[in-house]
Amino acid sequence: MSTVGLFVKEAAEMLQKVTDIDTAELTRLLETPPSVAMGDLAFPCFTLAKSWRRAPQQIAAELCSRISEQPDYAHIQVSAAGAYVNMHWDRTACSKSLLEQISQEQHYQLHTGQGQRIIIDMSSPNIAKPFGVGHLRSTVIGAALYRLYRAAGYDPVRVNHIGDWGTQFGKQITAHLRWSDPVQMEQNPIGEALRVYIKFHDEAAEHPELEDEARDWFRKLENGDAQALELWRYFVDVSMASLDRMYERLGVEFDAVLGESFYNDKMPAVVDRLRELNLLEESDGALVVRLDEQDMPPCLIIKSDGTTIYPTRDLATAIYRKEVMEGDRLVYVVGGEQTLHFRQVFAVLRKMGLDWAEDCIHVPFGLMKVNGKKMSTRKGKVVFLEEVLDEAVQQAARIIEEKNPELPNKEEVARQVGVGAIIFNDLKNNRQNEIDFSLEEAVSFEGETGPYVQYAYARIQSILRRAAQHTAANELPAGIEQHSTQDQSDPAATVEEPSGWTDSAWELLCHLAGYDSELERAVRLHEPSIMARYALQTARLFNQFYSHNRILDSSPVWREQRLELSRQTGEYLARLMELLGMKAPQQM
Ligand code: ARG
Repeated sequence: MSTVGLFVKEAAEMLQKVTDIDTAELTRLLETPPSVAMGDLAFPCFTLAKSWRRAPQQIAAELCSRISEQPDYAHIQVSAAGAYVNMHWDRTACSKSLLEQISQEQHYQLHTGQGQRIIIDMSSPNIAKPFGVGHLRSTVIGAALYRLYRAAGYDPVRVNHIGDWGTQFGKQITAHLRWSDPVQMEQNPIGEALRVYIKFHDEAAEHPELEDEARDWFRKLENGDAQALELWRYFVDVSMASLDRMYERLGVEFDAVLGESFYNDKMPAVVDRLRELNLLEESDGALVVRLDEQDMPPCLIIKSDGTTIYPTRDLATAIYRKEVMEGDRLVYVVGGEQTLHFRQVFAVLRKMGLDWAEDCIHVPFGLMKVNGKKMSTRKGKVVFLEEVLDEAVQQAARIIEEKNPELPNKEEVARQVGVGAIIFNDLKNNRQNEIDFSLEEAVSFEGETGPYVQYAYARIQSILRRAAQHTAANELPAGIEQHSTQDQSDPAATVEEPSGWTDSAWELLCHLAGYDSELERAVRLHEPSIMARYALQTARLFNQFYSHNRILDSSPVWREQRLELSRQTGEYLARLMELLGMKAPQQM
């Protein structure tokens, strides 16, 4: 990938005049050559061989001679292999406008969203249960989408739809009343709540009457029983306190935290509406909406014991987000295992005649495995997740100690690198892929990692700091050696290049020029990984540029250009890390 999309329109117009093929078709046919040294765009001439009844090589030569007027930025060449017309842009002529283009705000702050409001359902853990890895993914992906939408001109709203209602609270209360140790409850409420919750499941396998007891408690809760409510409130409060700690470490905020319980008084209206529309049917004592014509199982609305259920709350939630929160689009960042649930909920909304159901979008993601294994609920993921963050920070600290023991704010940087590594690891692959988490790999400074991106940024900042010192040094009497200050050990770097815009400098510049279209694509596909990969490529191309070009001690004209390119790359890397939810240390 190099000059993707750059001047494609112009190239197609140029070729249209000499081939009589329409520009849309030409645009489709144009290719990006495997390396910038070969050209910026290539036209494969074999595509004309049949209709022109000539060998591709002849066609290439013919086209080149026909293209008599070339725009002043272009330079056309028949490729070495002979079957392609390769086009090179005049780098000196184009670079000025490209540098100008990438420095403009409209290149990174888009307006496609036109202020439309997107309600993002993200994180949404269940609080009487441990914070699962799925919720980590939802948190990290949701937070990134929030910033992507904002950068595209939408008005996004982050909602944490806490799972604070449902039968699990009946279980939690039952377990608590039977087995909780008051001392433990005082010291480690989350751990103790988890312990008795797990015990409930073990015991219930042998004593199914426990399930009835739990159901009774949940019914009491739905009916507003004082003791049930008090206990419920207590569990909500302790869970929220621990969740908030984690959100803070991850740097994630919400615009609204509205648990499922918030919709308790909004569900009866939904049930009434369904009844009036004759959509409710009885099935084994429960009330359902049939979705046969959509080839889906019925959507359960009221269980046979009279209590509401997850889909009921999601119906009320969607209507609230549309009618009260005035969402133009409702996005749900929830694991792929809930695809059927959302299809059912959206289908019921459609059956209710709510045509905005089309604006409800489930944004699913794949499972995260740890060292090849699905994580077990029984292990207590609350602890586990905090531990992962701690370990990542410790590992980052070890690497920093090795690489840069003099670093002044080592601890802060280790935190930024460790947490950033976990976040980046979650975002770098297409969200629907399963990810296999390896801490070792995620925190490494090499490879497709967050630290690799952060490191490229820190390197740029160090170059810019030295450039500033040079400027100051220039005002000193002559004789100060500038040459030794750049620690470029790559031998290629010692050869002065024939032009300021070397292949690697040009490739980096063209890559940055593609930022807006990548952002637009990432938003359209709700896919933060597009920007994560783009960030990796930016870091890679910068490192390549850095090892092949002298920057600080190149000749004065090129020095300015190359510093400007470095500065812009730094700005884009900072923007990308911000989008993804990572911190950008100045030194590491
Ligand atoms: N709390 C749910 C779970 O952990 C996820 C909620 C997702 N959001 C929603 N509106 N259903 O399974």
